Amino acid sequence: MAAELEPPAYAVHLAGPFDLGRLAKLHRSCFDDPWTKTDLAHLLALPGGLGLIVRTEGLRRLGFETRRSIGFSLCRVARDESELLSLGVAPWARRLGIGTLLVRDSTRRCQMAGAQRMFLEVAVDNPEAHALYRQEGFEEVGRREGYYRRANGQRVTAVTMRADL
Ligand SMILES: CC(C)(COP(=O)(O)OP(=O)(O)OC[C@H]1O[C@@H](n2cnc3c(N)ncnc32)[C@H](O)[C@@H]1OP(=O)(O)O)[C@@H](O)C(=O)NCCC(=O)NCCS
Repeated sequence: MAAELEPPAYAVHLAGPFDLGRLAKLHRSCFDDPWTKTDLAHLLALPGGLGLIVRTEGLRRLGFETRRSIGFSLCRVARDESELLSLGVAPWARRLGIGTLLVRDSTRRCQMAGAQRMFLEVAVDNPEAHALYRQEGFEEVGRREGYYRRANGQRVTAVTMRADL
């Protein structure tokens, strides 16, 4: 019997404890200072912590349903403010609108939880993310010199951005 392949449509899901391995794998594929499952579990357990994961709807092969995780976001809401703590899309799935989908869903859910603003930090040398955030209404409001430390020890400035929700 020939393998049955369907177009891999995707959907956003709330991330829970069963997604920690998937989130850690995605984070590792996106950043050179990966967060462990324990780091991620702590973030999700914070008051106001919220994780989203984008997964394919299922690719049927020889009767088995397979799903691939392709993007994630982590945010936190505290009263009327929220923070986008991390966002990433698997390298093979970039430039398909998944980052935009995650930013929009994150801001929408944080707004529903009472936030009126969202803040985030992004490395000064990350033009792809800057373009995405500007496109979604974020503006630069400050800088933190040497905030990030790369695997090679290099220090990189963080740009703080803000959007009204
Ligand atoms: C930044 C990132 C999340 C973007 O995800 P994505 O799914 O590729 O983003 P989208 O397809 O929704 O792109 C939205 C917009 O972002 C900008 N953008 C994304 N990738 C880009 C690239 N390689 N070059 C230039 N602009 C880019 C474009 O303005 C794009 O809009 P357009 O496609 O209409 O031109 C992804 O590149 C990533 O995971 N990078 C590594 C992790 C990271 O840097 N996370 C953010 C840290 S704060």
